[in-house]
Parts: sequence; C-alpha cells; structure tokens
Amino acid sequence: MTNPYEKAFQRSINDPEGFWGEAAEDIVWTKRWDKVLDGSNLPFYRWFVGGQLNTCYNALDHHVASGRAEQPALIYDSPVTQTIKTYTYRQLRDETALFAGALKALGVAKGDRVIIYMPMIPEAAIAMLACARIGAVHSVVFGGFAANELATRINDAKPKVIVSASCGIEAQRVIAYKGLLDGAIEMAQAKPQRCIILQRSALECELTPERDIDWRAAVASAQPADCVPVAATDPLYILYTSGTTGEPKGVVRDNGGHAVALKWSMKAIYNVDAGEVYWAASDVGWVVGHSYIVYAPLLKGCTTVLFEGKPVGTPDAGVFWRVIAQHKVCTMFTAPTAFRAIKREDPDGKLIKDHDLSNFRALFLAGERLDPDTLKWARKQLNVPVIDHWWQTETGWAIAANCMGLHAYPVKEGSPTKPAPGWNLQVLDPETRETVKPGEIGALVVQLPLPPGSLPTLWNNDRRYIESYLAEFPGYYKTADAGFIDEDGYAYVMTRTDDIINVAGHRLSTGAMEEVLSDHPDVAECAVLGVDDDLKGQVPVGFLVLKAGLRRSEEEITAEVIKMVRDRIGPVAAFKKATVVKRLPKTRSGKILRGTIQKIADNKDFKVPATIDDPTILGEIEAALSTIGLAKARSKPIAS
Ligand code: COA
Ligand code: AMP
Repeated sequence: MTNPYEKAFQRSINDPEGFWGEAAEDIVWTKRWDKVLDGSNLPFYRWFVGGQLNTCYNALDHHVASGRAEQPALIYDSPVTQTIKTYTYRQLRDETALFAGALKALGVAKGDRVIIYMPMIPEAAIAMLACARIGAVHSVVFGGFAANELATRINDAKPKVIVSASCGIEAQRVIAYKGLLDGAIEMAQAKPQRCIILQRSALECELTPERDIDWRAAVASAQPADCVPVAATDPLYILYTSGTTGEPKGVVRDNGGHAVALKWSMKAIYNVDAGEVYWAASDVGWVVGHSYIVYAPLLKGCTTVLFEGKPVGTPDAGVFWRVIAQHKVCTMFTAPTAFRAIKREDPDGKLIKDHDLSNFRALFLAGERLDPDTLKWARKQLNVPVIDHWWQTETGWAIAANCMGLHAYPVKEGSPTKPAPGWNLQVLDPETRETVKPGEIGALVVQLPLPPGSLPTLWNNDRRYIESYLAEFPGYYKTADAGFIDEDGYAYVMTRTDDIINVAGHRLSTGAMEEVLSDHPDVAECAVLGVDDDLKGQVPVGFLVLKAGLRRSEEEITAEVIKMVRDRIGPVAAFKKATVVKRLPKTRSGKILRGTIQKIADNKDFKVPATIDDPTILGEIEAALSTIGLAKARSKPIAS
C-alpha cells in the first residue's frame, strides 16, 4: 500500500500541474493563474503563468486579516546584545509597511533592486519583506563577505538603494559595516542612489552626506505602503552564490512558485502547523535564512525565531537549548557544524539538562554532509528525530528529505532519505549520460521541470544558467553533487563535482580563492583545496609555488596571501592555512592532481596516479603539509 509520501511523490511527477495547482490554493492570489506550468519556451519553465499575488501580503497581511494579528510572528533573540523582542503579525506588518513607504519615498518601485547588507537583526527581515511589498527585488549579501564581494554584487544587481547597518556583532568582536559598504560602493561601477543605514548602539557610524539616510529618520517621515500585486513569474529576490569562478551566480527566485512551494513545505517536510514556533539558526544572508527564517514560516503563519548569536560562546554551548525552551520551539533547522561546535564544548550534553525541551519535536540539518557521529550525538542528547535534508541555494528548498508531514521513514546514516515531491532525482553516468544501477555513484541530476520555488534562471544571464545547470545533461538539472540512490530509493550525497567546498555550512569556491592568490606578485602558481576539518567539515588550504629568485621569507608571503583572501573574499572563507611548495604534482598533460593532494592532507591512503609526471613531488607535498599541522598520520601510497 502506498503511504502519503509515495502518493504525493508519484502525483508530483506524473501530474505536476494537478499537484502544485492544488497546493497553490493555499496562497492568496490577486489574479488566478492561467496555466500552472508553462513549458512553451524550453529549456525554461515558468510556474503559475498569468497569476498575480504579493508575497508580503501572504506572509503578513493575510494573517492579520485572518485572526493571527496578535500572534507573535517574529522573535528576535540576541544574546550578543542581551535583547529579546517579539513582533506580533500586526506589528511586523505595520513596521514593514512603513519601511516599504520609506523605500518608496526614495523612488524605489516595482522591479528596482535593493541590496540588503545587514547583520541578524529584525530590520533585515523587515527590509526584505518591505521590498516584496512594493514589488522591488531584494538581494541580501551576507555580512561575512568583504567589500570586494559586495561590490561584485552591486555591479551585477545595480541596486537603486542599499540598506545596511552601522555594525554587526560577532561572538568576539564588533564588525563595522560602514567602511565595508563605502569601500564596496567606491569599487563598484554601478552606484546606488541612496543608502539607508540603521544605527546600532554598539557602534554608530558617520553617515555620508547626500547619500545616506538614517533608518529611523526615513521611517519617521514615511507613509505606510500598500502591497503591490506582481506577476507570479516576477522576481522576488536575487541571491548570489559561489560559482566555479570568482563571479558569483545571481540565483533568481520568483514570487508565485516560491510562495506555493515554501508554504507547502512547512507541513509536508517539517510537519509544522500555523501557530507553532519554528527556528532556523542560520543567517538571512544564506538561502536557509531566506527560505526558513523569513518566508516559509511567515507564509505558514508560524512564529519564526531570528537568532543573533552563535551555537557556542554567546555565552556558552547551552544557548540553543535555552532558546528552544524559552520560546517553545517545536522544530529547529541548522547546519551540522553548529552541532559539532556544541559537542566539542559540551560532549556529555550537561547543559541540556538545565532546560525544558518538552515542546521540541524534531531537528533538521542541512548545508553539508551530516556525519554519523554528529547524527548519533544529537539524537542521543535530544531524543527526537534528527533529519538530514539536502538542498542548494538554487533549489530554494529540499531536493531530498525525510518528509515528516507525509511519512516518517527510518533514518539511514549518511542519507537525506528520499527525493522530496517535485524532485525527479536520477543518477547518471557522467560519461555515457545513462542512468546507473542502484548503489552506483554518478552525477545527481533532476529531470526537468524543476518544481516551483527552484531557480527559473540566473539574474540577467540566461546563458550562464543553461551552461551551468542544463547543458551537460540535456533534459536534466545538474546539481553538481555526486552520489547514489540505494535499492530502497534513499539518496546519498557524497561530494561536489566542481570546485565548491563547504566551510561551516558556507559554500565557497576554491577557484575564487585561487584567483586571489594568483594576484600576489610573488606567486607563480597555486592551488586551493578543501581539507577535512573536525569542526567546519572542510577548510581551504593554499599551495603556493613562488617565482624564482625571490629573497623574501615564505612566512611573509603566506601571511600576505592569507590577508588578501580575508580582505577580498571575507573572513567567512576561513582561509588561514597556506604553504609553499617547490612544485605542484601534475599529470603528464599538466593537470594538477588535486585529489591526491587532498588525500595526503586528509591522511587517507592514495593511489599514485599512473599519469603522474614526477612521483617524488608527493613526498614534498606531505612535508609541506606537516609544517602547517596537516598530513600528521602518514598517508600510504597504495598500488596504482
Ligand atoms: N559578519 C561578519 N563576520 C562574520 C559573519 C558575519 N555575519 N559571520 C561569520 N563571520 C566571521 C567570523 O567572525 C569569523 O571571523 P574570524 O576569522 O575573525 O574568527 C569568520 O567569519 C568565520 O566564521 P564562521 O564560519 O562562522 O566560524 P566561527 O569559527 O566564528 O564559528 C561555527 C564556527 C560552527 C560556530 C559557526 O560557523 C556556526 O555557527 N555555524 C552555524 C551554521 C550556519 O549558520 N550555517 C549557515 C548555513 S545553514
Ligand atoms: P548552498 O547552496 O550553500 O546551500 O550549498 C549547497 C551544497 O551544500 C550542496 O550542493 C551540497 O554539496 C551541500 N549540501 C547541502 N545539504 C547537504 C546535505 N544534507 N548532505 C550533503 N551535502 C549537502
């Protein structure tokens, strides 16, 4: 007998229009769609063509109008500023409408872009929702990125206005945003007309005359703005994510498909109902923050928690349990790295015992591979289901999950369970492009059309969208993850097939780091690889071949390249290790043997590739790695 998950999955694949058309009844439309799925302009698909709606209306006003006005919509919990502030749906609607009015007063209209460069404060969510309210397209840039990364995004999105704050507050330090913002605007060719800056008492900043406006002053003189209906296919936001070059990809999210899929996912995947408290401990700068701190819980009528703190050190490894207990959180979502950090500080879970977690039902983890140790530890400490699920910035919501609201499957370690409804996941042989047998590793791809909520294209770059995702496997979306599906239909995600690495659940391009390193005048050649890290999953390590005849010390040069990556990409890259080598191991045709270097760094046995140009270099690499605390246990070459 088929269970509700199987029923939903089969229908979503065989009758996507029927399945998603039904889900769309849960959204308030100002004009009903003409067609659920439009495939008339292949390879592009569009959902709910002809429909009109407003995402902010669905996330706020609709709940105010239908009995949730006094229910908490958002709880801001900030251990770094010792603040807890609750906004009801009415309050959040009113503040959003006012800020939307402030944007309107600056000339921001439907289709204009607004960049939001803010820490984890309610105003970041308010700014996002305010853009949605007036049909403007927001693009949130994570605070841990450097000015240069912000400048790249300004050039691509060409925002009319940038919304920022005077500072962000990290566990150990206060980060002045204004210098980064000014630096980025100076670097960028596309200049915003105005900036709205929220002054925070931890560190106020001087406003740039003519250009900057104080958030509070802008709001004080504003009139609340109404919701503007937009087409279902109009962009709601652009979110930049690492690509295989230094140029980030501008992932576009539409309004209609996004609202339908995200609202549906709250029950189907997370098993959360309206009125319940849901907490995604991430950052609004990442897709998890967009989807599950802001949009999905509010579309559903839940209370969302916006947490400005870290899993450890703000003030201790018990803060997650305190937040869950204090706000009666039923379901939480974070990255495995957060749990590894807690486990390291409080291995026996002593701090959990101080808190009443009786409302807590499930922990969802994503963003990187969930290692079995962390899974077991979390399950033992919390005594609730611990659910791995797999997704990407591009997909907007889970490609594979144990859909708790449909049917809870037994958890298999290392697997995010089964493809979620809407995702026709397949494993293809990268050479023959044919489907492989169950259990065989290949390219994880999704047969088109992708479900609603996934990216329709890249901002102003249909060609790159096709080249990056559709060209290699015609008729499929390439996830750029490799893995397999077992006999029971469980998916396993093993590794990226490109140069992306995952550092503390943050997606970074090693190619972008190599571009920075190559700019150092003393560097002749370089490679950046992700090596295993107990806390962050992976961390980048740089290998530098220096130009001949240099008289400078290697330490000086490595310190300089480390600083360059921090200055150009940002502290979030966590690029703290680089070493000088005489040569890089290569094949006879000149390809750097990245896989072999990585295995040596990770103390794994490796095969000396038959095509290697000079096998003696591997010993030099091992010696260089040991100078930076890696390759401690000697890796053993095994027969090739
Ligand atoms: N603004 C400015 N700087 C930031 C920042 C922000 N929003 N977020 C991080 N940084 C800085 C940090 O201060 C740190 O700087 P440092 O090199 O001076 O120490 C650097 O970027 C790296 O940050 P992070 O990766 O967060 O490492 P960490 O050592 O500070 O903390 C964890 C490690 C595991 C506690 C942390 O990564 C974490 O909480 N992860 C949770 C998972 C998560 O949010 N994932 C997102 C996707 S779900
Ligand atoms: P991002 O776009 O930042 O969300 O990163 C997406 C990438 O993170 C995916 O392509 C995977 O490589 C990785 N990832 C996300 N979730 C998981 C998971 N549950 N298991 C394994 N890898 C994951």
